[in-house]
Amino acid sequence: MVTINDNFQKLPGSYLFSEIAKRVAKYKEENPQAEVIRMGIGDVTLPLCDAVIKAMHKAVDEMASSETFRGYGPEQGYKFLIETIIKNDFNTRGVTLDTDEMFISDGAKSDTGNIGDILGLGNIIAVTDPVYPVYIDTNVMAGRAGDLLENGQWSKIVYLPCTAENGFVPSLPKEKVDVIYLCFPNNPTGTTLTKDQLKQWVDYAKANDALILFDAAYEAFITEDDVPHSIYEIEGAKDCAIEFRSFSKSAGFTGTRCGLTVIPKTVKARNAKGELVALNGLWNRRQCTKFNGTAYIIQRAAEAVYSEEGKKQVKDAINYYLGNARIIREGLQKAGYTVFGGKNSPYIWAKTPAGMNSWQFFDYLLKEKNIVATPGVGFGTSGEGYIRFSALGGREATIKAMERLG
Ligand code: MLT
Repeated sequence: MVTINDNFQKLPGSYLFSEIAKRVAKYKEENPQAEVIRMGIGDVTLPLCDAVIKAMHKAVDEMASSETFRGYGPEQGYKFLIETIIKNDFNTRGVTLDTDEMFISDGAKSDTGNIGDILGLGNIIAVTDPVYPVYIDTNVMAGRAGDLLENGQWSKIVYLPCTAENGFVPSLPKEKVDVIYLCFPNNPTGTTLTKDQLKQWVDYAKANDALILFDAAYEAFITEDDVPHSIYEIEGAKDCAIEFRSFSKSAGFTGTRCGLTVIPKTVKARNAKGELVALNGLWNRRQCTKFNGTAYIIQRAAEAVYSEEGKKQVKDAINYYLGNARIIREGLQKAGYTVFGGKNSPYIWAKTPAGMNSWQFFDYLLKEKNIVATPGVGFGTSGEGYIRFSALGGREATIKAMERLG
């Protein structure tokens, strides 16, 4: 008889955003007249910018002619895109990378979810709490998380609380951990670490032979100077950190799919014999076996984000969403809520009113105000008593939502 990977049955019923979508769909079915404003999942609403669309059209035409048609591309991504990203996103911040240290993919969700393929099952995993659920769920699937406890946490995961009390800055773990997921600007709290704060993590990882998995999916929203865009801006990070990036929120690619992972060749971990092995080679092997590369058309579209026209258009879109974030922050504050984030991020993290937990407030917002937000507890126990608003919606809907709350 075929058996299953039992770890899947340990997972809660459905993925957070699927659960929310299900509840919203049910409410809409029962209340078809309700004009529901979606501020839940961080999905962009502005169309792809003109420079990207033009590049895509051109690439589509290339696929229509035998002289310019492309079949399988390099599993690691085309050099034209990798070189463009290194030049614009890394060299400009004093970071040098070889082209074979970057892997283009279909998004940071896949890469942060798949990276565990190259890591041992005995590693102790540390996550900030609240946290993007993909980091936890994929470790549950692999069998690294242990069992689900009554408080909603996993027995073998080390949680690093990020709360209003510690300014959403996680403390270094007291116990030995091997792999640390950090996402800054943070999803879900919208808060950041300064360069000095991130340096403490790099120093910790180096001193303790730990690996940092740094998710920089929201770096394009950074407005403050002292906030690092890349972990490699911190000295020593090339020895202990893998970085993930995404075009989803920065350039509106949530439906188009493109992201990347950087694994410097100096990042190493031990095999069963205790020998040091470069993770770059393992990830390359993994990608060549399990992934056939991001579509050529999409990689040309991503390249166009860095053209003069593209840079300006993408910046305009980011500023539009940051404008929404300001409207949400100020609107919520005016209505008496305590809010965090939203300055270097499209997410605003708000305390629920006294006496309401995250899911009760979610229900209240949906049913009484016809607004969808994401319950903080869905991101972890330290998220209980909070709710997350996404600023990636349209301007008119954002203003309307704040009027409803006011
Ligand atoms: C979110 O809302 O947290 C994100 O959109 C989820 C994702 O990027 O997968």
